[in-house]
Amino acid sequence: MTQRPLAGVIGGSGLYDMEALEDAREVTMDTPFGPPSDAFVLGRIGDTPVAFLARHGRGHRLLPSEVNYRANIHAMKQLGVRYLISVSAVGSLAPDRAPLDLVLPDQFIDLTKRRETSFFGDGVVAHVSMAQPVCHAVREVLASAIAATPGAQERQLHRQGTYVCIEGPHFSSLAESRWYQAMGGHIIGMTNMPEAKLALEAQIAYASLAMITDYDCWHPHEENVSADLALRNLLSNAALAQQVVARAVAMLGSERPASHAFDALRTALVTPRERMP
Ligand code: ADE
Repeated sequence: MTQRPLAGVIGGSGLYDMEALEDAREVTMDTPFGPPSDAFVLGRIGDTPVAFLARHGRGHRLLPSEVNYRANIHAMKQLGVRYLISVSAVGSLAPDRAPLDLVLPDQFIDLTKRRETSFFGDGVVAHVSMAQPVCHAVREVLASAIAATPGAQERQLHRQGTYVCIEGPHFSSLAESRWYQAMGGHIIGMTNMPEAKLALEAQIAYASLAMITDYDCWHPHEENVSADLALRNLLSNAALAQQVVARAVAMLGSERPASHAFDALRTALVTPRERMP
């Protein structure tokens, strides 16, 4: 019998498959919002059924602005995913956060400009609270998985951080990078928004494992970010991410923690049910 996946993993740059998946098989999903980034790979890690999706598609074909975030999250929900781990490469905006450090962001600043950010609209109005944008319990599981993974233990882990999400695909100008620092940003990336918003709307417990590849362009002595530099650091990050995520998924399967995300819509709907299309 095939079980519905309890956990989902969205692999970012450098993470296009999950080596630890057993009994892996591909499924092509369709959604009311169009196709997701690629076929899903379903399998299990130990006893925990898992769904894996490469955010940019295998072969890295999609720009951050081209990713169909609504389709990706909708497909995860259709499959039955309750916990979602998102893995991403990010730049550092803070002197104490260095390339190869790991960050579990707890806040986001969404500066994206041309993405669909909600499942609502078209006759159904809801305003989901983003005060707590990620699931604390899944972040804790990720922190425990990092502590238990040889190789990850030596990395500096930042258990909190504000992730500034830009539209891209260009990296930031120096003036922008300094502005993001002044806003209180610790790390910068192009993909966790609107992913985290949509996961919360879908009442999926979402957390992000952010792996630093560069100092963006604000640092007086370090190399400015380039795709080349980010890719170099990505390679060692991706190998570590494989192990951390596999461990975290197994822990989610055995612990099945409660999450505020599971009833995110309880206080969010405005349109009366009898008025919904
Ligand atoms: N991804 C990795 N490094 C980045 C940076 N400096 N800015 C935006 N996205 C990134």
